[in-house]
Amino acid sequence: MALTGLFLILFLAVHLTGNLQLLKDDSGRSFNIYAEFMSTNPLIQLISKGNFAFILIHVLLSFYLTIQNRKARGAERYAVTSGKSSIWASRNMGILGTLILIFMVVHLKDFWAQMHFGSVATVDYDGHQVRDLAALVDYWFAKEWYVALYVFCMVALAFHLWHGFISAFQTLGLNHLKYNPVISFVGKTFALVVPALFAWIPVAMYFNI
Ligand code: HEM
Repeated sequence: MALTGLFLILFLAVHLTGNLQLLKDDSGRSFNIYAEFMSTNPLIQLISKGNFAFILIHVLLSFYLTIQNRKARGAERYAVTSGKSSIWASRNMGILGTLILIFMVVHLKDFWAQMHFGSVATVDYDGHQVRDLAALVDYWFAKEWYVALYVFCMVALAFHLWHGFISAFQTLGLNHLKYNPVISFVGKTFALVVPALFAWIPVAMYFNI
């Protein structure tokens, strides 16, 4: 779970960098050219397949580990389920993960599936026909409920990463008294900044900022 989680963290950083181009005041040109490259380059397509495999493994392992943990504990539950011994996010990784999974199904249906199997209109850039994915994103982010859904799911993602990032290093044995504060700082900063920027994109597009 730690290894697939760290790969997905890397994916999020790359995905966010690409998506931030939606905020450029160029009618979606930079984003469309970037998206066309990402969805047609053979090497990126190979990495994309690995990405989907890692998402699947991450989800399946989470189910497996939850069942194993429950079995190991038997009928007994933790006597203390709140307080200083653990943070809320760490105790609710299953719920947070399920919310992110629901988000992913909606997200992939509306964007990824449209790009690969749908009929996205094209736009002409210097004689090159490029799919106008920015217009599709615009279409969805003009809907209040859709923007609200994204913002809500990004809060879940932030909590999930708040625990997940540091926990992955601990699972891999990469924690060390000297470096723990750095890992913790980087993990918490990532957990706050990345989902906040992901949430900002639909908000900024909705309000035309
Ligand atoms: C403002 C927020 C976001 C926007 C505008 C956005 C936009 C897009 C678009 C347009 C695609 C299709 C591109 C293509 O297939 O070539 C895509 C794919 C994808 N998105 Fe997002 N995304 C956002 C947030 C997220 C988040 C938060 C996650 C994960 C939690 C995510 C996960 C994915 C995945 C896994 C794919 C498929 C990538 C692949 O083809 O390998 N996205 N996104």
